[in-house]
Amino acid sequence: MADVSAGVLPVVAIDRDSATPLHRQIYDGYRAAILRGDLRPGQQLPSSRALATEIGISRFPILDAYAQLLTEGYFESRTGAGTFVSASLPDQLSSATNGSRGKAHTDSRPRPVSRRAGLLPQFAETPWRHGWGAFSVHQPALDQFPFRTWASLVTRHSLSPRAGAIHRVDPQGLQQFREVISDYLRTARGVRCDPGQIMIVSGSQQALEIASRVLLDAGDTVWIEEPGYQLTRAVLMGAGARLASVPVDEEGMDVAAGIKRSPKARAAFVTPSHQYPLGVTMSASRRLQLLNWAHSSGAWIIEDDYDSEYRYGSMPIASLQGLDRNSRVIYIGTFSKVLYASLRLGYLVVPPDLVEPFRKVRFAMDIFPPYLYQEVLTDFIRAGHFARHIRRMRLLYSERRTTLAKCICEEFSDNVKILGSEAGMHMTVTVPENLQDIEVATRAARDRTWLWPLSPSYLGKKKRQGFVLGFGSSPTEQIPEAVRRMGAAFTA
Ligand SMILES: Cc1ncc(COP(=O)(O)O)c(C=O)c1O
Repeated sequence: MADVSAGVLPVVAIDRDSATPLHRQIYDGYRAAILRGDLRPGQQLPSSRALATEIGISRFPILDAYAQLLTEGYFESRTGAGTFVSASLPDQLSSATNGSRGKAHTDSRPRPVSRRAGLLPQFAETPWRHGWGAFSVHQPALDQFPFRTWASLVTRHSLSPRAGAIHRVDPQGLQQFREVISDYLRTARGVRCDPGQIMIVSGSQQALEIASRVLLDAGDTVWIEEPGYQLTRAVLMGAGARLASVPVDEEGMDVAAGIKRSPKARAAFVTPSHQYPLGVTMSASRRLQLLNWAHSSGAWIIEDDYDSEYRYGSMPIASLQGLDRNSRVIYIGTFSKVLYASLRLGYLVVPPDLVEPFRKVRFAMDIFPPYLYQEVLTDFIRAGHFARHIRRMRLLYSERRTTLAKCICEEFSDNVKILGSEAGMHMTVTVPENLQDIEVATRAARDRTWLWPLSPSYLGKKKRQGFVLGFGSSPTEQIPEAVRRMGAAFTA
């Protein structure tokens, strides 16, 4: 027993019937005692033999546990003297790991975080956000995606990665991918660019974040669309920007109202091709007014072109960036709509003189984009699968949108107004003011009908009531029944 008293008696109750192996119980017991502060740095431990005798088990599990604690630096052995709690462990260990001796942090009051984090809006888990099927927003017809073709490209690039590409650290992304994107944007979207201006990002959201870090300082005023995309607002709030809401009418953002409200704003964030959520296309005269204002006041325009590939009655509208002669527009595009959102791939087109600051910010944020899907998508686009998929989906979504609009007219006649159904994967309906869209949406979600309320898209107090209705993932034949369920949620 002399040995045992020279060291420290076991602090762990050994349970021979437990499923946890003995060596693990001993390891856990000592480690917890050290972190609690029950064992102090430099304190001597019993020899393995003495401990085995004391608790009546074989020496082997004790030797295993001691070896692990020595490896992790909780124990140290001193030649000829024995084993000790490591003297180099900080004295304040117990407060660092437990708050106060033996007590976990139980205070329910929020602990202070950075002011920056505090600026961000609460992330709200709403019942309509994660549904799948009629009328969930931002969801394409995934069952139509050519997964076989995709899988064969993923396999090819996984089995034989291009050595030059896999080791390449470029904050803008792979050169070949930027080349195909630049060709696509010049021909399909009228964007004036070369591959050196393109930066691959993980979706528009990261593009908005990088753009705001490069272009804005806390306290800068920015124009945002009213109503507008909540996640753009979130980025700008996090950047400490002052938000100047500029109303959207049937021609898009009302530039004259913006100038009246805040002529010296630093930037304007817009969705000119298919305004989110009202769906209007910005008229040519508003586009020119916006570009003129940006040129004369030295402001930036951030063009979020999130779903412009799908236009139904007419040709796709050329980008605002393509009209700009003063390099004031930062263009953002995404593969979230044309392919799928969890791919997390998008791109920025940056004026040539801003490439360097964008690279710096991106490098500090996540260094560079992941390799595999850039390679896969490069081949997918080059082989014509991308263009074919867009053509097929345009036809399918056109049919879904026509069916949805017809069913809504039949179900609600003049009680609702349809907006913005000429493009994209959603349309918006406004409803009489006495209907509370959030209440209706909450009710409908219980019936697995995913109505996105319109009113949260407004920042100001004056909000229109209505719904953003996605039709990308709604099978055509299910739309009539889904509209009937929507009607039932209105009247319940
Ligand atoms: C206005 C707007 N911008 C961007 C996006 C896409 O974001 P991301 O590319 O990050 O998926 C969406 C929705 O999906 C949107 O509605």
